[in-house]
Amino acid sequence: MKALSPDRRPRVRIRELTSIEDCRRLPDTQVLVWGHAERDLTPAHQYRISAQMGGILLGAFIKGELAGFVYSFPAIFNGKLVQHSHHLAVLPKFQGYGIGKALKWAQRDWAIRRGYSRVTWTFDPLQAKNANLNFHTLGGICRTYLPNFYGTGSALNLGPKIPTDRLLMEWPVREKRVERRRRGCLESYEQTSLPKALEKKTDSPDSQPLGPRLKLRNRRILAEVPPNIRGWGERKRLDLIAAWQADLRRVLTHYFGQDYTISDFHFGDRCFYVLERRRSR
Ligand SMILES: CC(C)(COP(=O)(O)OP(=O)(O)OC[C@H]1O[C@@H](n2cnc3c(N)ncnc32)[C@H](O)[C@@H]1OP(=O)(O)O)[C@@H](O)C(=O)NCCC(=O)NCCS
Repeated sequence: MKALSPDRRPRVRIRELTSIEDCRRLPDTQVLVWGHAERDLTPAHQYRISAQMGGILLGAFIKGELAGFVYSFPAIFNGKLVQHSHHLAVLPKFQGYGIGKALKWAQRDWAIRRGYSRVTWTFDPLQAKNANLNFHTLGGICRTYLPNFYGTGSALNLGPKIPTDRLLMEWPVREKRVERRRRGCLESYEQTSLPKALEKKTDSPDSQPLGPRLKLRNRRILAEVPPNIRGWGERKRLDLIAAWQADLRRVLTHYFGQDYTISDFHFGDRCFYVLERRRSR
């Protein structure tokens, strides 16, 4: 998060978005945050009816301006009723000030008040900042890999030929691990010394991956991802993204099949998913 003295941090008010006027602001916000083409936008009427019929739609405002929003709808996951969170967005000029985090914690409060125990969402596993938010800051877990979930050729992928792989997050909002994160108690152990199922080949920031190790049996293992794939030069970018995505897909699908769960994320000069073997699902 950007370091600002408390008196310079923007004052944020979070409230439900219920009116059609509120909902009409959201497609524009999607364009500003993701740059989506018109055909990929969720329309105002979808937000409005979801909010009316059990969804949770919250906006964060700074001096009356919509700075970001979070949107989820009731869904069934593994036979249980959950809220599935489809959008979390903060306008670029307000990113890094704690607004995304505040929206997720507000979503959790609303979900608990409505009787939910779990919130789910998907995200691109090569986005290290988002992984840091989802696992380390919020305390979510993951044991489901969705290969090329939205198909290629949509605005939702990283390049015209890169598959839209996603991780399906599970956020057990009532569990102690999440409550501890809410209070700011973060997991800490010597992560970088754990055995690595995936790591980079050289010290260079634009290194290729070394190739998966699929025979590890340790209770905790790591899978590396690059800290910032958007920092790579355009020429190298697509080949590197494709290489990391293919190897990460192999590693995560393999270890999910061996009863491992992603339980944390380490963000730094080098970034790692932390996979932990669980006894029961
Ligand atoms: C992802 C997004 C919603 C986060 O909102 P934000 O207001 O910028 O994030 P916050 O300042 O609340 O930071 C929340 C957490 O994100 C992670 N994070 C944010 N900036 C980071 C950075 N520069 N480096 C590493 N982690 C970072 C951290 O885990 C941080 O928690 P911490 O401050 O306790 O360490 C926002 O960046 C966004 O709209 N991005 C584009 C759309 C998107 O990716 N949506 C989510 C899809 S799952």
